[in-house]
Amino acid sequence: MIKYIGSKRALLGQVSSTVASLLPQGGTVCDLFSGSARVGHALKGQGFRVWSNDHNAYAHTLATAYVQADRERWLDRAEAVLAELRTVTPARGWFTKAFCEDARFFHPDNGAIIDAMRERIAAMALEPELEAIVLVALMEAADRVDSTAGLQMAYMKAWASRALKPLELRMPDVLPGVAAGPCRATHADAVQIAPEIEADLVYLDPPYNQHSYLGNYHCWESLVLWDKPETYGIANKRIDVKTRKSAFNSRPGIGPALEAVIAG
Ligand SMILES: C[S@@+](CC[C@H](N)C(=O)[O-])C[C@H]1O[C@@H](n2cnc3c(N)ncnc32)[C@H](O)[C@@H]1O
Repeated sequence: MIKYIGSKRALLGQVSSTVASLLPQGGTVCDLFSGSARVGHALKGQGFRVWSNDHNAYAHTLATAYVQADRERWLDRAEAVLAELRTVTPARGWFTKAFCEDARFFHPDNGAIIDAMRERIAAMALEPELEAIVLVALMEAADRVDSTAGLQMAYMKAWASRALKPLELRMPDVLPGVAAGPCRATHADAVQIAPEIEADLVYLDPPYNQHSYLGNYHCWESLVLWDKPETYGIANKRIDVKTRKSAFNSRPGIGPALEAVIAG
């Protein structure tokens, strides 16, 4: 899974055992700020019916692959798509220029592979769950060879040693479906979707400072959306980082927003 600030990787055992102590097997859990999708993935793995939500597209893609998609439905086709992608000829494009030349988050040799694979994925017009699995494989492969300290606000002056290794696609750990019913991933603002949530338990893990996750992980957002946006600043962030704000990144905003979520 990708490096993600605020990820509950180290707390997964505690979160899962707390949920298990409160709910019967097959209960429904909603993770309203799903981020890396690790929590939903762990809970689905324990047999809970999970609903993961996040307002960023890359996080929704992670949750679609790790929570909504079922292994038995997609594994063979996803392996076949990944095998095809491994044969593409690298071709420098938007990603290489924006994130390997103008900014230096990835080595240009890997940038050209990412560009070629992403263009091929777009041309394939895959079903959404299959596309999400393949995009997660590409995101994770790029993450393993990045040249950052974990955030895409800045990059290393000299290439990190891992950035010099060739990018390698691996099949994400997509889980089998759960007996209790389908899991789902949504892409919405937490305040707006809160009134629609039906779950036995809602897990709330909002941001806890002023730095937006969209700004921290703008390369993933652009890779997933593949809209080749106008960019700004040394980090070449997407222009919409300036306008797509979350109330949960604001000191005066988070209290009322959290109240609205709980009331919803
Ligand atoms: C602390 S992280 C969650 C980490 C997650 N539990 C994990 O283990 O990876 C907070 C998440 O909230 C999302 N977020 C921020 N504002 C949001 C909003 N208004 N609605 C929905 N999601 C939001 C961010 O994109 C980010 O992924």
